[in-house]
Amino acid sequence: MADEVRAGLEARPLPFLPSKYFYDERGGALFDEITRLPEYYLTRTEEALLPAVAREAVARVRPRNLVELGSGVGGKVRVLLDAMEEAGTLESCTLLDISESAIANSLSQLRSERPRLKASGVVGDFLTDLRAVGPGESRLIAFLGSTIGNIHPQDVPAFFRSAAAILAPGDAVLVGLDLVKDRARLEAAYNDARGVTAEFNRNILQVMNARLGADFDPAAFDHVAFYDPDHAWIEMRLRARRALDVRVPGAATALSLPAGGEIRTEISCKYTRAALEAALSGTGLMLNEWRTDPESLFALALLRRLGRS
Ligand code: SAH
Ligand code: TRP
Repeated sequence: MADEVRAGLEARPLPFLPSKYFYDERGGALFDEITRLPEYYLTRTEEALLPAVAREAVARVRPRNLVELGSGVGGKVRVLLDAMEEAGTLESCTLLDISESAIANSLSQLRSERPRLKASGVVGDFLTDLRAVGPGESRLIAFLGSTIGNIHPQDVPAFFRSAAAILAPGDAVLVGLDLVKDRARLEAAYNDARGVTAEFNRNILQVMNARLGADFDPAAFDHVAFYDPDHAWIEMRLRARRALDVRVPGAATALSLPAGGEIRTEISCKYTRAALEAALSGTGLMLNEWRTDPESLFALALLRRLGRS
């Protein structure tokens, strides 16, 4: 963490913080609140698509083992487990998340709800630690919530290759993607009227204070989120209201910002079917099914592992 944060805060012209550090317990709870905001169409649109898509995916893949990446605090895993149970294929489930509290809470809940399920958890980074899940066959990986959008596009092919490496031929990845659409709709989803997203954004500074002994004053930062059509991503930043000098002893660094100076905290890429297909090229995974809601706001894509990679 220290190395990643130092590299981010020392980056110029635009310092950044790695977005996986949003999600301490408070961050997880704030994100959960975001998923219920009227402006944040993503979660409810994906949840409406999921039951039918899950049944269809399970009928095709007949998975015995479910792996959910970035499982968080949500309940989407239940929809997939129900579909596997109905089809009579369900044996085991592995959750992977960077947040230790999210893994602990969802595992204990799963175990009490389904005592016969073999449930395990991995606290790790889905960009570097997929091998910790171990190899498997008859496996379905779920990567929902448009979390794939938070991976830089240049890193997405490597992520797909590492996912393919823990799958057997014919196994699958179910991925949830937010789609390119009009700017106003996109920007509203990341600038909610109640300011929950702003609070979530500023929370990453409190995580830096708690874990690295930094002295960020979160109240000295404004939330900024805008759509960049050239990259097809929403970019989230924190903008200093006044000149600031921040010490980050746990990362052996410091940051000076002028009034109006910014830190990038997140990108959230918006996909098209063609952009997904381009990112899959040469990774050992191919697009097998693409489902969207009637307004084409959000997509669930089923990717299959090819016979040989
Ligand atoms: N799957 C849920 C939660 C999405 S929020 C949903 O669809 O609503 C994103 C989740 O991914 C959080 O729980 C966060 O802790 C986790 N996460 C973010 N970056 C990560 C990374 N690099 N590695 C592992 N988990 C990560
Ligand atoms: N995966 C979510 C998304 O890209 C994460 C998210 C939603 C988020 N709102 C946010 C991340 C606000 C940072 C700030 O939509």
